Amino acid sequence: MTEGAQTPRAADGFTPRVFSGIQPSGNLHLGNYLGALKRFAEPLDAGVEALYCMVDLHAITVWQEPDALRHATRELAAGFIASGLDPERAILFNQSQVAEHAQLAWIFNCVARMGWMKRMTQFKDKAGKNAEQASLGLFGYPALMAADILVYHATQVPVGEDQKQHLELTRNIAAKFNHDYGIEFFPDTEPVIEGAATRVMSLRDGEKKMSKSDPSDMSRINLTDDADTIAKKIRKAKTDPEPLPETAEGLETRPEARNLVNIYAALADKSVEQVMAEAGGKPFSEFKPMLADLAVERIAPISAEMGRLMEDPAEIDRLLARGAERARAIAHPILQRTYEIVGMVGARP
Ligand code: TYM
Repeated sequence: MTEGAQTPRAADGFTPRVFSGIQPSGNLHLGNYLGALKRFAEPLDAGVEALYCMVDLHAITVWQEPDALRHATRELAAGFIASGLDPERAILFNQSQVAEHAQLAWIFNCVARMGWMKRMTQFKDKAGKNAEQASLGLFGYPALMAADILVYHATQVPVGEDQKQHLELTRNIAAKFNHDYGIEFFPDTEPVIEGAATRVMSLRDGEKKMSKSDPSDMSRINLTDDADTIAKKIRKAKTDPEPLPETAEGLETRPEARNLVNIYAALADKSVEQVMAEAGGKPFSEFKPMLADLAVERIAPISAEMGRLMEDPAEIDRLLARGAERARAIAHPILQRTYEIVGMVGARP
């Protein structure tokens, strides 16, 4: 603990830096697009560096077929680029190519407490009733996530609402490390959870998150779905029998209607109030086709571009290798400095 710690040194000047990650484990869906990808492609203030990572080490906390993992990693990279992310401007890479993530995660395994990890709702959801059979990696998942962020001293993390608890844990790990070693070394990271679609719900149940692990494919729109499939899924989306209310307040007690309006707002880059001004009072027989047209208009070009990029996997691999090299240049000195703070002989910051 603080015993024996050196006098605190001056805090690093933390420059704003953005980091976020997505697991390459199955299909990208509309929740990933609206909650994450689309927001990653929004312009950043001049000079702000952004890193986006395909977290393949996180993906294997549950079983992944090796070929499927390779495919999903490349397809996710294609998804980032097709969603408008410029790989020259942002740093795009897969996690396993930058060993510093796993190395810092080990340090954080020794900082985080068992009790903190046990409270993680995502672990409880994923491990289910059979927690004894869950991998140790699944339990330690949030420490690796903290390492992803903090190995770059990232200050802002754009995510969907489901990641909020993990980001609080990241802040706790940083604070405990700083406290234990008596140094302001890791920054406070700020979750950036903004917009109408930070929690896109299932199309079959407005109380459940849209998720790649839902057994029903009708519950989600995949970025690889074609126009007919997207239109069909929206036509069949669960709703109540009433028309849309006149105002946004009327959506509060109607989860399915609220979800479809939120999706519309996020796809159209409008506020929920603007959408209600346009569509309030309309029956679903009118609103659903409006939403289907908009979703097809926005998703189909992404899907087509992903397909085109996937025709040249070697080019994607080159891009990821280049991104990893740029990422490593930032992560390496921060890890070495961490090792030095912790007392590892041979650390070379
Ligand atoms: P993952 O792969 O489950 O999801 C990737 C991103 O998509 C968001 N998201 C959603 N947003 C709105 N509505 C939904 N239904 C929905 N489903 C998913 C997620 O919030 C996320 O932003 N633990 C992370 C991956 C990760 C990470 C990180 C993220 C690893 N290291 C460091 C940020 C920073 C995860 O499993 O996301």
